[in-house]
Amino acid sequence: MSVSASNHLDPRPAASRGGSAPMPRVLVVANQKGGVGKTTTAINLGTALAAIGESVLIVDLDPQGNASTGLGVERKDRRVSTYDVLVGEAPLGDAIIETAIPRLHLAASTLDLLGLELEIANERDRTFRLRNAIAAHAAQATGKFAYSYVLVDCPPSLNLLTINAMSAAHGVLVPLQCEFFALEGLSQLLQTVDQVKQALNAELAIHGIVLTMYDARNNLANQVVADVRETMGDTVYETVIPRNVRLSEAPSYGKPALLYDIRCSGSQAYLRLASEIIQREKRFRAVAA
Ligand SMILES: Nc1ncnc2c1ncn2[C@@H]1O[C@H](COP(=O)(O)OP(=O)(O)OP(=O)(O)O)[C@@H](O)[C@H]1O
Ligand SMILES: [Mg+2]
Repeated sequence: MSVSASNHLDPRPAASRGGSAPMPRVLVVANQKGGVGKTTTAINLGTALAAIGESVLIVDLDPQGNASTGLGVERKDRRVSTYDVLVGEAPLGDAIIETAIPRLHLAASTLDLLGLELEIANERDRTFRLRNAIAAHAAQATGKFAYSYVLVDCPPSLNLLTINAMSAAHGVLVPLQCEFFALEGLSQLLQTVDQVKQALNAELAIHGIVLTMYDARNNLANQVVADVRETMGDTVYETVIPRNVRLSEAPSYGKPALLYDIRCSGSQAYLRLASEIIQREKRFRAVAA
């Protein structure tokens, strides 16, 4: 979809829009390529952040609902979903479900999201639905419902759902799979981030690129890591997520890998990524202050 200034309602950063309630940091996991590890990253990074004391909400904005399933929330239990929130029929708080992980909550998605783009195509605030919902929630949230981080899992598309996520976000996390065509499509993604920043959300930044499904035995994977680091420099997190079968098994048990097997290499990598993100956050906040 195109990002035009006519979508513009309130381009000021969230922090300057008044209100004294602390806004959570909103990080969006996005890449229009399918199957690169977005959902695995959202679930396990969210769990890792919760494990180190942060209070985290995962927002599932993908009609596939893999983050919801992977966190053990069955379709029949998704009575109020992110669709209801984005069409304006329910506040975000009504869609929030507590998970088996302390301090980790979920706003689940349903297939209804597939129709959202057409349903709200003519609404002036269509690109700000998620941002407004998060701000309204944060303004009155207390206790365990006051989040320090919101992680948004996006569909493999640069559609209105992803634009809503980017309009609400402080940072974009880009998972890149360690494969031959890793960088393909990245420039289009970066261009979209730039357009959203110009037209909709001046605060938006690329938080970092996370290399996923790395297999040390594969020479090509090593070459890809070297190429991506050379092209993207410091934007790439130090932590590389290995290819690890425990990460792919865990969702079928409705559990994050960190709950399924905390000692596996995948869980350990997501714990390292969480601490790296907290470190990087300190730098981001210092620059913003
Ligand atoms: N590090 C990993 N090691 C092994 N398997 C992985 C790893 N990361 C993800 N997978 C598996 O690869 C597949 C795709 O991962 P995932 O669903 O996280 O990608 P995605 O980018 O969210 O996909 P989509 O674009 O369809 O939403 C899944 O089956 C997942 O379990
Ligand atoms: Mg996914």
